[in-house]
Amino acid sequence: MARYEIHGGTPLRGSVTISGAKNAAVAILPAAILIEGKCRVENVPDISDVRILLEILSDLGVVVERFPDGSVTLDSTVIRSTRPSPELVKKMRASYYLMGVLLSRFGEADVALPGGCNFASRPIDQHIKGFKALGANVDETEEYVRLSPGENGLQGARVNLDVVSVGATMNIIMAATLLPGQTVIENAAKEPHIVDLANFLNTMGANISGAGTDTIKIRGVEKLSGGTYAIIPDQIEAGTYLAAVAAVGGDVLVKNVIPKHMECITSKLQEMGATIENFDDAIRITSTGNLTCTTVKTRPYPGFPTDMQAQICVCMTVADGVSNLTENVYETRFFGYCNELAAMGADIQINGKTAIVTGTPRLSGASVTAKDLRAGAALIIAGLTARGTTYVDNIHYVERGYERLIEKMTALGADIRVIEE
Ligand code: UD1
Repeated sequence: MARYEIHGGTPLRGSVTISGAKNAAVAILPAAILIEGKCRVENVPDISDVRILLEILSDLGVVVERFPDGSVTLDSTVIRSTRPSPELVKKMRASYYLMGVLLSRFGEADVALPGGCNFASRPIDQHIKGFKALGANVDETEEYVRLSPGENGLQGARVNLDVVSVGATMNIIMAATLLPGQTVIENAAKEPHIVDLANFLNTMGANISGAGTDTIKIRGVEKLSGGTYAIIPDQIEAGTYLAAVAAVGGDVLVKNVIPKHMECITSKLQEMGATIENFDDAIRITSTGNLTCTTVKTRPYPGFPTDMQAQICVCMTVADGVSNLTENVYETRFFGYCNELAAMGADIQINGKTAIVTGTPRLSGASVTAKDLRAGAALIIAGLTARGTTYVDNIHYVERGYERLIEKMTALGADIRVIEE
């Protein structure tokens, strides 16, 4: 089994270029099914979730071509089936977007329930609520979701989400794109990747307004034509490198970012003692590695992202004083990594949805296991700060979401490599 071997203690210096956003890519690529023709998507990250998704799309009949510059062309003129391979669908979380796109274009979908990171119970009832509001019959079991037109057919509708859900917002946008009439999503999520999906679809001929606010309107169009679109940079990948520099110390220019998307993260790192300088599409971070405690509460965008909870927690473990970290999106997320950090000498007490983190001057290397993608990223940062050698197992989780991580970290001077055991 492959694992990371990390020798901690070297400050990070140089520059790193951020890849296209995973959570935008995993929606935009299946959205190509809505186009009866060819589109080109640029800045697609080469990560395992994207590779699985492209395999699912090819299997359905989409003609997929990848180029070395990170762009992908997808031709969805002929789709052979509305039943994506259950084996492949179960390998990733975002395969639920196939429900929305197949329903919109073909009026039916037969999709196995998704897999992916199970750091919490992750229901899809709000996606289903949206499909039903649009007129779909939903046959749902523990294994699959089958969608077909209800007796009044499929059409635009008003959907008021009971919880702010990224996945449900994107799935309903996609499902409504080709349906007659207007759909209004109330209490929509506002994450940058939602705006990115809407921009992609509008570039292809859709009529979507309000993305980035909590009310999104989709006026159904008959068809989408092709076009070219570039995915935004990954907010969480950028945040992970920023957190690493803050905790380990160093001076790094993080390139290909949208600084506005990063404010919720950079403001906290500044509060903890790092120095941040914003440029048009880059952020420079300098840190001595001597951080002070802070309070963080995760919230949907523009709040502090739950996907950065584990990485900021590592910063807190080496900060001076007692920090409070409250998780408001996925309450059980702490269990994916806090025990592992404790094995490295961190002092973390979990009290309901809050972790109380008492900083220690330095973590110590240990053998730890990644239990999900962001937990894995956090353990890497912990290993980079620690005295001695850290081994991180289950690296396939990290490969789901970080493009060329070893190459990028090594270029910054990190002592990290993959070993086979
Ligand atoms: C997406 C991201 C994930 C991130 C999360 C929150 C992708 C592929 N994944 O996941 O990285 O951690 O947003 O920013 O984009 N909920 C329901 N019913 C639903 C849907 C969600 O109760 O039908 C709840 C969830 O349990 C959670 C909250 O709503 O408590 C937010 O979940 P959601 O935004 O849907 O997360 P995902 O789209 O699964």
